[in-house]
Amino acid sequence: MTIAEREREMQAVAEEVTGCTLCELSRSRNHAVPGEGNIQARVMLIGEGPGWHEDQQGRPFVGNAGKFLNELLTKAGLQRDDVFITNVVKCRPPGNRDPLPDEIQACSGYLERQMNAIDPDVVVTLGRFSMAKYFPGERISRIHGQAKTIGTRLVVPMYHPAAALHQAALRSAIEDDFAKLPKLLAEVDRVREAASEQDTPPDQLELF
Ligand code: URA
Ligand code: SF4
Repeated sequence: MTIAEREREMQAVAEEVTGCTLCELSRSRNHAVPGEGNIQARVMLIGEGPGWHEDQQGRPFVGNAGKFLNELLTKAGLQRDDVFITNVVKCRPPGNRDPLPDEIQACSGYLERQMNAIDPDVVVTLGRFSMAKYFPGERISRIHGQAKTIGTRLVVPMYHPAAALHQAALRSAIEDDFAKLPKLLAEVDRVREAASEQDTPPDQLELF
């Protein structure tokens, strides 16, 4: 996709999400939260769903978990403007309950379109609902921080910042996992360069 096509698609998704009534969450939301960030991002982060602050503002990760996420990004040498941040469901589950399987399913087309348009090198899943999209049946305590090649990208499951914020063990785990991001990006570059020197199409990363 050209940059103009990406922009158009991301704008279209955001507009559709804003007026979406595909699931029950549309009835209780104040603001849908399509996601935000750099549409040319190399890193895309996927959270769970908007909380109270996000629902008020229509923006992802703006509450306490968002502040912590900003710190984690800074430690990885990244800023909010470098990445794209969205959620599995774009509307707040009432009382911050878990999103239901049919809600996740109803919303999945938007996430897929965002993924296609941005085409990131690295996807970071935050918490178990976005992890389950890529690692069904896995346990976060077992696989957090371990990058896996899926198609043309690396997917790295991480703890949810809201959970990690208040539990010391998880906090150091998520800090360590975020600190790996620069290395992972460099590794993607290295493999791509090696592939282009050998004139092989870089459509499959063979990293892990
Ligand atoms: N938690 C999430 O999963 N997403 C947000 O946008 C905010 C908090
Ligand atoms: Fe639509 Fe997703 Fe919001 Fe449900 S959560 S109403 S599918 S945008």
